[in-house]
Amino acid sequence: MTDQLTKSQELIARRKAAVPNGVGMFNYATAAKADGATIIDEDQRELIDFAGGIGVVNAGHCPPPVVKAIQEQAAKFLHVSFNVASYEPYIALCEKLNTLLPHGGPTKTLLVSTGAEAVENAIKIARQATKRQGVLCFTDAFHGRTMMAMTLTSKVGYKPDCGPFAPEVYRTQFPNFYRYSAGRSEADFVKAELNRLEELSHNTVAPENLAAIIIETVQGEGGFNVAPEAYLKGLRAFCDKHGILLIFDEIQSGFGRTGAWSAYEHFGVVPDISTWAKSLGSGMPIAAVMGKAEIMDKAGPSSIGGTYIGNPVSCAAALATLKYMEEIDINAKGRHVGSVIRKRFEKMKAKHKCIGDVRGLGAMMAIEFVKNGDPLATRCRHLHRADERLRQARPRGDQRRYREEHHPRVEPARDQR
Ligand SMILES: Cc1ncc(COP(=O)(O)O)c(C=O)c1O
Repeated sequence: MTDQLTKSQELIARRKAAVPNGVGMFNYATAAKADGATIIDEDQRELIDFAGGIGVVNAGHCPPPVVKAIQEQAAKFLHVSFNVASYEPYIALCEKLNTLLPHGGPTKTLLVSTGAEAVENAIKIARQATKRQGVLCFTDAFHGRTMMAMTLTSKVGYKPDCGPFAPEVYRTQFPNFYRYSAGRSEADFVKAELNRLEELSHNTVAPENLAAIIIETVQGEGGFNVAPEAYLKGLRAFCDKHGILLIFDEIQSGFGRTGAWSAYEHFGVVPDISTWAKSLGSGMPIAAVMGKAEIMDKAGPSSIGGTYIGNPVSCAAALATLKYMEEIDINAKGRHVGSVIRKRFEKMKAKHKCIGDVRGLGAMMAIEFVKNGDPLATRCRHLHRADERLRQARPRGDQRRYREEHHPRVEPARDQR
């Protein structure tokens, strides 16, 4: 036994000393290199990357054509600001996205840097286009950590002591069929959920005050909950009836993850505005707000934008990523991976009572752990609460004891030790 720290442990110790605790650390992995589906850590161990940079590397780590495009653009120029001088990669990327994901007619795109920034701008555009202020969002939603995005985000664990939050934001229940159907058919469940919208119009916010409804058609952080198609069609009709803009947040579900460029393609419902980020740039910071041209053009001069919007190196990376995704047929891969995982998960569910549900679209596939087969007694909430208590536990001895009591130990297989 030696007390010498590994290189990974040394790095984590430096992180703890230099970086605030509030920056999430989901595990003790380190990264020195990454390629395809693997990460090489500081101690030269090869890790299979199941996180994919939180939904960012759908095309794998460092696809060679993307790295090449980054190098070539970096050798030309790194930044001029799109507000100061127009450059081709920004415009080419908007043109490509408008062709790939038309919003039911002429479509325009604004490029920014992060998912949260895309969400902020989508709301600003919707408010300017409708001259209304209200925004309706959903339980279990995740839309980011800036002030409006955090307000729209549902999980309270992400926003302790961060309020007051943005005004004129209303929340209703996400149509989570598995959790809330209580034995009803999907048709009856959807009817009741759409009725909830009508009730909300009387007792919470008048629809004529709503600028937008924002929804993830497949929730990411919320647990890969897929909205029923009939619900999304009903939501579209509700928006059309009341002049409300429908925003789909595709930041996590876009670019092949569900076996299509967008999750919404699966439902035959087109949004007025949509938000994109993550896998668009294979890791380079790039995000997009897309929408019907006449809506996007309603935003006043300089009311949307920023110094770094659509960085040229990120635009080049995104263009190369989309081309590469087309070449490898990322959507077919997403569907294939999804069908393999679903079969495995279904087998596990048949064997283990603690698995209540297998769900998802394409490779965005999840299992839900519950107690005694009860969809309302989700084990994930229990684990999340345990993690919260673990984070707050002091001193280190308490943390170790707590972890041992609440988290099952997973030992590496003998031949991998
Ligand atoms: C659906 C969704 N919207 C918005 C965001 C925020 O994106 P970012 O972390 O790039 O700000 C995320 C991030 O996980 C997300 O999953």
